[in-house]
Amino acid sequence: MPKNLKENEEWLLSFYRTSEISGALFFGRLCKSLRPGPVQHDMSKHFADEAQHAWLWTDCISKLGGNALKLADAYQDQYLSVAGMPANVMEILALTHVFEKRVIRQYALHSRVPDLNPEISATLGKIMDDEHWHLSWVHDALLRMQPEYGKEYIEQTVKRFWEADQEVYKRTMSEHEERVRDLGMLAPETKNQD
Ligand SMILES: [Fe+2]
Ligand SMILES: [Fe+2]
Repeated sequence: MPKNLKENEEWLLSFYRTSEISGALFFGRLCKSLRPGPVQHDMSKHFADEAQHAWLWTDCISKLGGNALKLADAYQDQYLSVAGMPANVMEILALTHVFEKRVIRQYALHSRVPDLNPEISATLGKIMDDEHWHLSWVHDALLRMQPEYGKEYIEQTVKRFWEADQEVYKRTMSEHEERVRDLGMLAPETKNQD
């Protein structure tokens, strides 16, 4: 089968796939320890989605004649070393909120690349619908947690992970600048966290 992927594209889609796998495993593991309730319900759908996304990228890469590369680390693995371990479910959701925003921003950026292969564009479209829902259920869950944790503590936690995300993103971009530049995807960073 002829390869219909640039080398840098194959790498980036593999990077997305690795990140989706890490997300599925992280939330899947967490789900086993949650008590019955709306967070348990929504997080079960969330991890099933992330597992499906890993499959969609695997399938997309293979339809384009490429190989899903074996990569060591996922983007979000670096969060914990920068911001520290989340201490409770609220902190995990705060981290998730920040991360899902990053994912949506990255996928939106990728979908605007000129002359994007239709297979990649369709895969991005399918995945983005789910990613928007991820952001929205986590947002609602954090609102419901306000009486228990306090608005200020929740906002501070989101800010802490948002700062960590900025640092990890800068690091990732400078590490992979050449690949990203080659694909026409160097993005201006937004200044606020919304
Ligand atoms: Fe995903
Ligand atoms: Fe997601």
